[in-house]
Amino acid sequence: MSLEHYYQTFLQNNPYPRELKNYAFDDHASSIYLNYNGKKLINFSSSDYLGLAKHPLLLARSHQYAQKLGTGSTASRLVSGNFPQYDVLEKKIAAAMGKASALILAAGYQANTSILEALFDPAILTAKPLVFCDRLCHASLLATTRFLAELKRFQHNDLSHLAELLEKYKHDTRPKFILVESIYSMDGDQVDFAKLVPLAKQHHAFLYVDDAHAVGVYGEYGQGKAAAYAADIDIIMGTFSKALGSFGAYVACSHTLRDYLINKCKGLIYSTGPSPAVLGAMDAALELIPAMHAERQRVAGYAARFRQRLDKHHLNYGHSDTHIVPWIIGDAEETIRMSLLLQEQGILGTTIRPPSVPVGKSRIRFCLSAAHSEEDMAQLFYAIENIIK
Ligand SMILES: Cc1ncc(COP(=O)(O)O)c(C=O)c1O
Repeated sequence: MSLEHYYQTFLQNNPYPRELKNYAFDDHASSIYLNYNGKKLINFSSSDYLGLAKHPLLLARSHQYAQKLGTGSTASRLVSGNFPQYDVLEKKIAAAMGKASALILAAGYQANTSILEALFDPAILTAKPLVFCDRLCHASLLATTRFLAELKRFQHNDLSHLAELLEKYKHDTRPKFILVESIYSMDGDQVDFAKLVPLAKQHHAFLYVDDAHAVGVYGEYGQGKAAAYAADIDIIMGTFSKALGSFGAYVACSHTLRDYLINKCKGLIYSTGPSPAVLGAMDAALELIPAMHAERQRVAGYAARFRQRLDKHHLNYGHSDTHIVPWIIGDAEETIRMSLLLQEQGILGTTIRPPSVPVGKSRIRFCLSAAHSEEDMAQLFYAIENIIK
């Protein structure tokens, strides 16, 4: 019998089936306006938080880099796919993040899985490490970790629980790591660095921070949330795929860690470097974000007003205090129903269901963007108020 039988059985029994839908960008200068099945939608599920995905400078520089260097980087960066442009970008990233150096990788998922795999190598550490990880950390932070480390998950954003676990293992001589996100992608809440950093120091734990949803949107110059604690964070990881409008990932770290990753990180060594067009977009985004104060303020204002509206109707948004605001509905079917009703009114708010969130915590996750207009926000408020009537 073909092994497909097993996969078929899974698909038949999967309570939360996933599908790919074809959303087309509307013919518009913003990535926020989509077309789905002939209907115009305002996208409230996009990670284009600053509206850079269709910014003229990113488009122009992408084009310029592709013209000059081609459409592909043609080899791994460790073979012949490393251009001088990488060096320039990495120096800019290191300076912005307050770390000695930086490294660009092909995608955030690939960065987290392969960097952690390299860091946890028991042959290097001489022991299997103990890894303390927030319960709601992104799948990419867990994918390789769960096989390579002894994993201790602490309750989401509960640093007392983390302290308890660290205390319990304080005499354990195995290397210790702490993995967190500065902003949690499904909840829009934040880690408390002021409490976390001393804890990591006290226990000599390596601190790894995923800043994917903060870079661009936070920090005086859009450098994200972690940079303010750069001296005490071993690795700051972030992506170009969200507020920075394109694709790819970076880590900011010490020279030693960068050199180590060049030698051991399989996602870098055995993968073709990002295409030149992507490097051009990265370069333009890094140039633009320091001055995007007005956009950052606009996003924060939209999010605050959206939460006020949800409060007014006693709708649950958990502990969100950033530009990611979930409307936590609970039941998965009901969440889909609400999302379809919103769509009928021109609002795209996609559902997040298990296993991405715990059972009973299904939600519509709204992401506010500087590319949204006041009219878009008014339409969102109107649509929600309409469907809960
Ligand atoms: C916290 C976090 N880390 C990493 C990633 C992966 O980044 P990328 O989309 O660049 O692969 C995501 C994407 O959803 C994320 O939310």
